[in-house]
Parts: sequence; C-alpha cells; structure tokens
Amino acid sequence: MAAPLEIVILSGSPRRRSYTRSLAHHIGDVLRRDGARVELIDLHETPLPSLDPELRGARNIHPDAGVATLLRAAAAADAYVLASPTYHNSYAGVLKNALDYLSIHDFRYRPVGLAGHGGRSTQAVDHLRQVVRGVLGVSIPTQVCTQESDYAGKAGESGFYDIVDSDIRERIERFAQELLLFAEHMRDLRAAAGSPRQSLR
Ligand SMILES: Cc1cc2nc3c(=O)[nH]c(=O)nc-3n(C[C@H](O)[C@H](O)[C@H](O)COP(=O)(O)O)c2cc1C
Repeated sequence: MAAPLEIVILSGSPRRRSYTRSLAHHIGDVLRRDGARVELIDLHETPLPSLDPELRGARNIHPDAGVATLLRAAAAADAYVLASPTYHNSYAGVLKNALDYLSIHDFRYRPVGLAGHGGRSTQAVDHLRQVVRGVLGVSIPTQVCTQESDYAGKAGESGFYDIVDSDIRERIERFAQELLLFAEHMRDLRAAAGSPRQSLR
C-alpha cells in the first residue's frame, strides 16, 4: 500500500478568532478523514520571524523553532494548502513571509490548494496563484473563498467558527478530493522524473 500523502497547510491569519484559521482547520480535518497526513502550520500560533535571507541556506540548522518546523514539513510535503484572509486586496503579509522561506525545491511538481476569507473575494487566492507559479508549484483549479455569513456567529475560546454554509462545505469536499488526486498523481510524476530537488539550480 502507498504511504499516506503528506499535506502541509499554512494558515495565514495572525489573529486568534479567525475565519481563515477556522477554514484551514476544517480543510485539515477533511483531508485527514480522507487518509492524508496533515501538518498544519498556523501562523497565529507559530508566528515566524521576518526572513533573514542570509539564513535561507541554513535549512537544517535554522535557529527559530517555527521556521525549522516549516522547513522540515516542506521537505516531506506532497501537496500544500495556502489559506489567507484578504488584506488590502491581496493575501496577508505573514503568509508571504512564510512562503519566502521556501523555494522551488519545495514546490516543484507539487499541487497547491488555495483558500481565502473576506467577502468571498478571490483577490487573496488570485495573488497566491501567481506566487505559486513563481515557485513552480501547480495550483489546483478548485479554490475556496468564504465570507462571514458562511460561519456560525461566535468563535469559542479556541477562536474557531463552524462553517455552516452547505455550498462552501460541499466545495471544501471537492477541493480536498481534487488536491488528493493531484497529489497522488504528482507523487508518481516526481518518482518518474527522478530527483528534481537535486537537479534544480
Ligand atoms: C490590514 C488589513 C487589511 C484588510 N483589507 C481588506 C480588504 O482589502 N478587503 C476586505 O474585504 N477586507 C479586508 N480586511 C478585513 C479582513 O479580511 C477581515 O477582518 C477578515 O475577517 C480577516 O480574516 P481572519 O478572520 O481570518 O483574521 C482587512 C483587514 C486587515 C487587518
């Protein structure tokens, strides 16, 4: 039997009571239910220091524990989910900072699912799609963009809201299935292509 697919989710909201965090955790639950191994890096719980490009090569010895976790998770990833609130017609800066720690070695031949929160606007995910192309990742076509009314009224102490809109819940199911399908086939593609991590310059 093939090993479970390893999915890394980056949740890009810095606030605790957050729709984006709720969305990212819900997507993680669906992917786990469907057999994937999920590592969710929540940038509220694990804020990362601003990138120091001098340390970018220090993958195995990065002094910050959160960055070290991100780099370790990325090294094993078969696929990613990037989730962000809409900030100033784009995605959040903390997510950009996290992505700047990574490179084409982490994304090449790997599918990326995009999710955003903010009036069901696609601005955050549209911009993320460009960034993913820049690191040679493959954004999957289905994306999830939510608004406040897709969630139940009040976040509990944990800061999470329940997703109550049935269309969004259904879309998340389709999103997860598509991501896993791409991840499985692209894992085979990477095996057939040899060792792209080493052959990239
Ligand atoms: C710096 C900043 C910029 C924002 N810019 C936008 C924006 O351009 N468009 C929008 O619809 N909402 C904008 N918002 C509102 C957030 O999208 C909204 O608060 C959202 O709920 C944040 O997501 P979260 O609940 O996951 O933290 C902005 C919020 C902040 C803090």
